[in-house]
This record gives sequence, C-alpha cells and structure tokens, in this order.
Amino acid sequence: MLDVDHLLPIAFRVRKSMKSSKVVHSRPAEAGVAWPVARTCPFTLPDQYAEKRKNEPICRAQVWDDSRTWLITKHEHVRALLADPRVTVDPAKLPRLSPSDGDGGGFRSLLTMDPPDHNALRRMLISEFSVHRVREMRPGIERTVHGLLDGILERRGPVDLVAELALPMSTLVICQLLGVPYEDREFFQERSEQATRVGGSQESLTALLELRDYLDRLVTAKIETPGDDLLCRLIASRLHTGEMRHAEIVDNAVLLLAAGHETSAAMVALGILTLLRHPGALAELRGDGTLMPQTVDELLRFHSIADGLRRAVTEDIELGGITLRAGDGLIVSLASANRDESAFASPDGFDPHHPASRHVAFGYGPHQCLGQNLARLELEVTLGAVVERIPTLRLAGDADALRVKQDSTIFGLHELPVEW
Ligand code: HEM
Repeated sequence: MLDVDHLLPIAFRVRKSMKSSKVVHSRPAEAGVAWPVARTCPFTLPDQYAEKRKNEPICRAQVWDDSRTWLITKHEHVRALLADPRVTVDPAKLPRLSPSDGDGGGFRSLLTMDPPDHNALRRMLISEFSVHRVREMRPGIERTVHGLLDGILERRGPVDLVAELALPMSTLVICQLLGVPYEDREFFQERSEQATRVGGSQESLTALLELRDYLDRLVTAKIETPGDDLLCRLIASRLHTGEMRHAEIVDNAVLLLAAGHETSAAMVALGILTLLRHPGALAELRGDGTLMPQTVDELLRFHSIADGLRRAVTEDIELGGITLRAGDGLIVSLASANRDESAFASPDGFDPHHPASRHVAFGYGPHQCLGQNLARLELEVTLGAVVERIPTLRLAGDADALRVKQDSTIFGLHELPVEW
C-alpha cells in the first residue's frame, strides 16, 4: 500500500478529523498511553504527558490496532533519540500509528531518508533556506502581510484571522518561493488535507496522486520554460546536472508545499491568540520590538504544534534504564519535551523572558526543520505587523468557544474571530 502519511510525514499530517472538535480517541489503553492523545485546549497539554514524564518517561503507547510502541516524553531522551544514528525514518520500519500508514510506496522526500542519502539531498536544498536567503525574503513577506492587513482593516466587524491572514500569508509565501500558482491554492490545500487523512486510504491515495501529478506537470512546465523560483533553480542546478531525478524534485516539492502552508499558519493564529491572552507580554512587545525573536521562540515552545514524530530503532539502545530493541517503534513527543520542567523554568506558562532556545518545536537532529528560518521570519513579520497596526485588537466572542484542531499532529485553530 502506498504510505500517504509518509510523503508528508507525521509532522505535516492534516487530518480530516480536525474539522470536528469531537475527541475521536478516548479508548483507554490496557497499559501505557492510548495514542494519539487528544489536545483539547490551545494552552494546556493532555495530563498524560506530565504524568508520564514524572513516573515513566519512556512508556508503552497503544495504537489503533492494539499494537504497542514506545512513547518518549522527556526533553533529554527526545534529543538523544532524534540525533541517534541507530534511529531511522525508513517508512518500511516505522510503527503504523494509523490504518493508512504503510511502507512509503517508493516516495522519496527528505523525511523518508536516513543519512548519508538524506545529507546529500538536504545539502542540495539547504541554501534555499539559509539565514541569508531568508533575510532577502523579508521585504516580500512584509508586503504580503501589510497587503492582507490593509484588506482586513478596510472592513468593519469580526474577521477570521485564520482565513483572512494566517493561511493566505503562509500560502502566498510558499507559492512565491516554489513558483506554485497561488490561484491553485484551493486545489492543493484540499488535496494535501485529503492525502493525509487518517483512515481514508483510497480517497487519500487518489488525492495524493492528484497532488503529485499536479506538481509533476508544474515541474515539467518549468523545465520547458525556466524561471527564477526554487523549483526552477533545482531544475537548473540539480536535474540538469544529474544530481536529482525528476521524481525526487516532485516528491520534495509536495513536502515543501504542504509543510510551508499549514504549520506557519497554525502558529500565526495561535501566536495572536496567546498574545491577546497575555496583555502584559503584548504591551511589552508593543513597546519594544526587539523582544519579537524571543517571543516567537517562546510561542513555538509553548505550542509545539507538530507532535508525535515516528521513528524506529535499528540497533539496541539503552536509555533511561530501558532497552529499546532493534525493530521497536518510537513516538517522539516534541510537545511533552517542550514542557519538561527539567529543561525549562515554569514550562506550562508563557513567558517570553524565559530562555526557550533549547526547544524542539522544529525537531532535532538530521531532520530538524529545513524551513525554520523562514517560519520564524513569517511569524516575526506577521505578529509584528498585527501588534503595530491593530492596537485595539480583541477576540470576537468567547475564547472557550474556539474550535481547536484536536487529534491532529499539527495542532491549531479552525478559526480566530477578532474585532478592533
Ligand atoms: C512554525 C512552523 C513549522 C514548524 C513548527 C515545523 C516543524 C517541523 C518539524 C518538527 C520537523 C521535523 C520532522 C521530523 O523530524 O520528523 C520539520 C521538518 C521539516 N520542515 Fe518544518 N516546520 C515549520 C515550518 C516549515 C516551513 C515553512 C517549511 C518549508 C517551507 C518547512 C519544511 C520542512 C522540511 C522540508 C522538513 C524536513 C527536513 C528533513 O527531513 O531534513 N517547515 N518541521
């Protein structure tokens, strides 16, 4: 079976169940933790994480087919395992955390490859996401954000900042970077969502093939008519030199497109909500814009929107008094690690003055987020513009009524209605 979750692996799964705020995983585990654990609140994590960190930091998790895998909850263990060469992302070896997880179906993206193949591919892409390259994108991102805010501020009454600001911002940025036509956004947003839906194998497969087919045609068109975007640069510098195959460019384009529009959007909306709920931090930020970078990192730590990375052990590993055997599956909880009291002071609070630089919201080790410089910039520019331009911003309606994307590996809000 084609592993649709592995083309856009776990960090980028967008589940259909997120449309509903109903908890769909309430089955108690016979032993350990029933996975996935549902996040029901924008600010607090499920109690199981804190309990396990304290009493059994490496514990058993029971998944949909009642099989067991290891759940890793402590910061120290999370970093150790994500950097360990005896831990793999090979789709054929990973635990099946949902019915649609399979063997990867031959898709080759960064997130399905181990070193040394992974290093070679990552080196080919990394210059596109360097601090220097991303800094050059700032004026374009600023124009995009201010243009969206101009449209919002022309209106009166409640506006949904997920639909009107967060999602269009991140989609426009990734479209411009990759050279994907923005007018196709409905097509690829919908397909990304369907392709990564848990449990809907046939529908998911169809959507995935449509998405891949779309990017395949786009790459082919770019070969015929070269331009100046990331995909064109890959074609010129890697495809024509034989360093990358056409299919590899396409598969990684699917990963970048999906990674680039969902995650940053989720963080922008959660970031605005969090600042509105912490007026002291918001006032300080308004008075001193230099606090923005540390505020963004604290937001990333606090929310840890990508959780539950899938890994497998290839050789026995001794860790925390436990032997993880070759062949064992791992679920690595970034969200739990980022609330670990032995790594962060007062981890359940949001405080931009607490050093958050050791957070693992972007993962750790060889697969640490390639787009993190870009994501940070998108957040800094968007939150900065909102803080500066809408000083009277407030939630429209009851914060407790906000629908969160439960039971998803990308946590976020369905909508963020505001007024000013
Ligand atoms: C706030 C926004 C974001 C968060 C929280 C986030 C989080 C993550 C995490 C946790 C991983 C590691 C996955 C693993 O180890 O299995 C990852 C990998 C990755 N991310 Fe992000 N991401 C964000 C934004 C972006 C953006 C904007 C892009 C691209 C435009 C991007 C591209 C990637 C890629 C290509 C990888 C795979 C890297 C590799 O395997 O070498 N991400 N991201």
